[in-house]
Amino acid sequence: MSSKQHSILITGGAGFIGSHLVRLMVNKYPDYHIVNLDALTYAGNLENLKDIENAPNYTFVKADITDAEAMQELFALHQFDGVIHLAAESHVDRSISNPMSFIETNIVGTVVLLNAAKHHWGDFSGKRFYQVSTDEVYGSLGKTGLFTETTPYDPRSPYSASKASADHLVRAYYHTYGMPVVLSNCSNNYGPYQFPEKLLPLMINNIRHGKTLPVYGDGQYTRDWLWVVDHAEAIDLVYHKGGNGETYNIGGNNEWKNIDLVHQLCDVMDDLLGQSQGTSRALITFVKDRPGHDRRYAIDATKIKQELGWAPKVKAEEGLRQTAQWYLDNTSWLERVTSGEYKAYYEKQYQ
Ligand code: NAD
Ligand code: TYD
Repeated sequence: MSSKQHSILITGGAGFIGSHLVRLMVNKYPDYHIVNLDALTYAGNLENLKDIENAPNYTFVKADITDAEAMQELFALHQFDGVIHLAAESHVDRSISNPMSFIETNIVGTVVLLNAAKHHWGDFSGKRFYQVSTDEVYGSLGKTGLFTETTPYDPRSPYSASKASADHLVRAYYHTYGMPVVLSNCSNNYGPYQFPEKLLPLMINNIRHGKTLPVYGDGQYTRDWLWVVDHAEAIDLVYHKGGNGETYNIGGNNEWKNIDLVHQLCDVMDDLLGQSQGTSRALITFVKDRPGHDRRYAIDATKIKQELGWAPKVKAEEGLRQTAQWYLDNTSWLERVTSGEYKAYYEKQYQ
C-alpha cells in the first residue's frame, strides 16, 4: 500500500449492509485501501465477500471493536483517513433478551473507535468518522408524519437506545474535540445476505421449509423498506460529500404494514416455487407481540436528495422478487448461517 493511498476502515463489513458497502467501495475505488474489520459474530460471514476477497485494495481483519489495544494497533498500522462504522449488534429481539451485548458493542465499541481515531488523527485534517445509524433512534410515529433530521431522539428498545447513545457520543466528539464526523439514520434495509432472523429472510426461509410465518401482534406495524444497495450508495455519497457534523436521513419512501409485506412476499414465493397461490399465506400465524414494539417508522429523505442528489433506484416489487430469488438460489448460504449458535437461539424463540 502506498503512503498516499486513501485508506478507509469499514467496521462490520462481513455483515449484511457492510458486505454490500465493502463490495461497492472495493470495486468503485481501486486506488483506495479498504480495511474490513469484523469480529465475525453469528451475523458476520466472510462468504458474503467471496467475490472480492482477493482484490489488491482489500484487507480483512478479524477483531472486536471493544478491544481498545487491538484498535490502537490497527490505527497505528494503517493510518486510516476515514472510518465508516457499521459494526453493531443489530437485532431488536436479541436486544430484548440480552441488552448487555448491545451496550458493549454499540456503545463501548463506538467509544473505543472514537478514542483510537482521536489518538491517531493529530489535528484531524483530511479525516472523517462516519457513524452509520438507524431511524429507530427517533422512536415511533403515529399514523402520519415522517422522521426528519431534527426529530428528537426517543429510542424505545435496548437496540435503538444503544444506537442513540452511540450517535450522541459521535456528536460529542465533534463538539468537544473537533473530530470531523458525519452521521446517517436509515430505515429498514432488505436484500441478499441479510441474516434470516430479520423479517423478510426469516419468512423466506420458513416458507422453504413449510414452517409457520410468525407475524407479531396484529401485523399492522409499519416499516419503510430500502433496497440494501441503495443504502450502500447513499453511504458512499455521504462519506465523500456529506457536510462536517451533519446528519442525513436515508429511506425508501416505501412504507408497508408488516402483514401486507408478508402477503406480497408469500405471493412472490408461491410464484417462484411453482406453488398454487395461497400456499404460503396459509402458513401465516399471528404470535405474541414484541414488547415495546414501535408502531411505525417512516423517513423524510429530502435533505440527502436535495443536498447530495441521492434517490433510491430499486422499486419495492422488483426488490422483493430479487430478494426472494437470491435466497432460493443460495440455500447453502441459508443452511450454513442457520446452523450452530443461531439455530439454538431460533429454536428457543419460536418453537
Ligand atoms: P448485521 O448484524 O448484519 O452485521 C453486523 C456486523 O457487525 C456483523 O458482521 C458482525 O460480525 C459485526 N460485529 C458485531 N459485533 C462486533 C464487534 N464487537 N466487533 C466487530 N464486529 C462486530 O447488521 P446490518 O443489518 O448489516 O447493520 C449494519 C449497521 O447498519 C448497524 O450499525 C445497524 O445499526 C445499521 N442499520 C441497519 C439497518 C437494517 O435495516 N439492517 C438499518 C439502518 C441502520
Ligand atoms: P425486523 O426485521 O426485526 O426489523 P426492526 O425490528 O429493526 O424493524 O422486523 C421488522 C418488522 O417485522 C417489525 O415490526 C417486527 C416484525 N416481525 C414480525 O412480525 N415477525 C418476525 O418474525 C420478525 C423477525 C419481525
